[in-house]
Amino acid sequence: MSLREVDPDALKRYSFSVWSYKQGEMVSLMIQIGDRLGLYRALDGAGAVSAAELAQRTGLQERWLLEWLRGQAAARLLEYHDGDLFELSPEGSAVLADETDSLSFAGGAFSGATPPETVDKLLEAFKTGIGLSYEELGPNAAHRTERMLGPWTRQELVPKIIPALDGVAEKLAAGGVAADVGCGGGVALMAMAQAFPDTQFHGFDPSNHAIQRCRDKVVELGLKNVELFVAGGEKLPTSPTYDFLITFDCLHDMTAPGSVIHAIRQAMKPDGTWLIKDIRSDPDFKVNMRNPLLAMFYGFSVSACMSSALSEPGGAGLGTLGFNPEVAQNMVTEAGFSKFKLHDFDDPSNLYYEVSP
Ligand SMILES: C[S@@+](CC[C@H](N)C(=O)[O-])C[C@H]1O[C@@H](n2cnc3c(N)ncnc32)[C@H](O)[C@@H]1O
Repeated sequence: MSLREVDPDALKRYSFSVWSYKQGEMVSLMIQIGDRLGLYRALDGAGAVSAAELAQRTGLQERWLLEWLRGQAAARLLEYHDGDLFELSPEGSAVLADETDSLSFAGGAFSGATPPETVDKLLEAFKTGIGLSYEELGPNAAHRTERMLGPWTRQELVPKIIPALDGVAEKLAAGGVAADVGCGGGVALMAMAQAFPDTQFHGFDPSNHAIQRCRDKVVELGLKNVELFVAGGEKLPTSPTYDFLITFDCLHDMTAPGSVIHAIRQAMKPDGTWLIKDIRSDPDFKVNMRNPLLAMFYGFSVSACMSSALSEPGGAGLGTLGFNPEVAQNMVTEAGFSKFKLHDFDDPSNLYYEVSP
């Protein structure tokens, strides 16, 4: 029983707010269905179509499609026209259909709800304090991460970000040794290995699921300059090896980011460059509250990032929003790096740091 009196108007607003999250859960499921059945791709460029026309294009059942289409129009994800016609706008296409060329693509984030067994383990984690590693989240987590983070990396890393770093593109073109630590499914690793065939690339990740995805891609792309290690960044070579090293959206997931940063310092050549990409956040929670998607980031944290960062006793537990510019600068300086430059590449979710010994 609350100590304050219930305000009937505030109660309605609060109740609506809670139900709107339930609506979000249901719409998320519908987006997943649309993505997996190729419905957005079928609607892309098709103009206004009826359920019967969509059924003809996809070979799927008209009655089921009509319910899905009406739900998508209710969610304002499709435009509705008289005569029960439905249209995917160009913006809808960029966010839900176009995975290869759109920087706004988000459809891949909807690859499934958290399985009930994982939810049970998360409840347990609140009691024991010990979370789940990415490996324990299973192959679907590696796939979802890759589809969520992949489009931006695929389109921006080689054409825009690497050329903005001091001397890195030239070194990679001439032939050097580079590493992707916490490489996940290997989107960045493969993009770099294809663009710079004279450089040797090492991918490190403790998750077997992630490294298996990388292995499949190496075979599919016929790459000869990639070596993969099922190992965390703690296991990097102890002598100066790398001209270039990246850690993308992973330091905040690590149980011991400080140890990995020290290992990176040892593994870097004296003139090497380390590029960190991590979630855009501020040390002040009140500043972060201005982010309209902040609650989603905390959901990612409890279900994946902080959970991974606490998956061993004594884990640092930084979590999704924990590696802000202040933490980044303190940690890399403490490990003996002297150059620290923040880059803002207009990535809505991430900041980038160029670091050198
Ligand atoms: C959010 S994913 C990012 C993957 C990839 N860098 C990307 O941008 O798609 C975080 C990854 O960090 C990995 N990771 C966790 N602890 C690690 C450690 N100690 N060393 C290296 N990678 C680690 C996880 O297994 C997971 O694949």
